[in-house]
Amino acid sequence: MIRVLFADKPENWARYERPLTEAIAATGVEAQIVQPGEIDPAQVDYVVYSPQGPVQDFTAYTGAKAVLNLWAGVERVVGNETLTQPLCRMVDAGLERGMVDYVTGHVLRYHLGIDATLAQQDGVWRHDGGVPPLARDRSVVMLGLGALGKACAEALAGLGFAVTGWSRSPKDIPGITCLNGDDGLAEALSKAEILVSILPDTPETTELLNADTLVQMPKGARIINPGRGTLIDDDALLAALDRGQIGHATLDVFRAEPLPPEHPYWAHPHVTVTPHIAAESRAETASEVIAENIRRGEAGEPFLYLVDRSRGY
Ligand SMILES: NC(=O)c1ccc[n+]([C@@H]2O[C@H](COP(=O)([O-])OP(=O)(O)OC[C@H]3O[C@@H](n4cnc5c(N)ncnc54)[C@H](OP(=O)(O)O)[C@@H]3O)[C@@H](O)[C@H]2O)c1
Repeated sequence: MIRVLFADKPENWARYERPLTEAIAATGVEAQIVQPGEIDPAQVDYVVYSPQGPVQDFTAYTGAKAVLNLWAGVERVVGNETLTQPLCRMVDAGLERGMVDYVTGHVLRYHLGIDATLAQQDGVWRHDGGVPPLARDRSVVMLGLGALGKACAEALAGLGFAVTGWSRSPKDIPGITCLNGDDGLAEALSKAEILVSILPDTPETTELLNADTLVQMPKGARIINPGRGTLIDDDALLAALDRGQIGHATLDVFRAEPLPPEHPYWAHPHVTVTPHIAAESRAETASEVIAENIRRGEAGEPFLYLVDRSRGY
């Protein structure tokens, strides 16, 4: 009998109790799921972890075989010096579909000019005789082609958009123009009518969108950021929005969350703030990923979605 510690916020246990219990049982591994404080930490075999949970010091978890993150992002734990066990991140089919919905929804909103339509219900018939562009005439750039970026890129390509993706390592994804490296970034930025950033927060990605890179985008470009707040130099983005270099930004993630009420993003006419709701782990599907990694740990097989701690993601 192994012991699995559920170390998310206590109020999330109600959502996870049934799916996690059933998913672990379905693997054939005999496990007792415990809450913090119920047993000696040294007896815990796996820590189901959340950056919002009560366990952030792993020193006492001397018998733990892995720390299994319920979140896709690992920036709040990857540098934790008390963590000596393997760290796995969440790649969850439910979370992925949520991100695809959020990204395709906001890309279509920009593509179709839905904000302007909603603002123009004023009795003026503005048919200028022009033909609206099709998705295939709209260039969308995805920064990050990991689990989430790739799924979003494929969904957008499926809708007909001309999609370019950029990642650290070279990729070959049918229907997507894949770029990497510094030259690749410059090329991607130069054609980003709509840019979506789904990069992790690492030292290399910090303020990737800054005064120098924003100016490389087509004038009036739109930005959607469901990645992390640190990807953007906020002052540079506000300045680029004020002078029309960037036409609009939809931001889901911020350096400080909740975004303080006095932050200029809230009142900016060309910014939409969403409260870190792009994609959440779903208990049913996330529990299956946790259970599969526990099964692998017990069978001596390599873990899925192991974080490379030197790379930071
Ligand atoms: N807003 C929300 O609700 C929400 C929800 C979930 C996740 N997220 C965010 O989304 C992020 C991405 O998640 P994921 O599961 O897709 O991560 P992932 O599978 O680890 O993919 C990360 C992607 O970013 C690329 N990348 C990393 N560092 C780079 C660099 N320096 N230059 C260029 N490309 C770089 C990686 O390139 P390689 O492929 O070459 O490694 C990979 O394509 C998470 O880290 C989290 O911050 C947000």
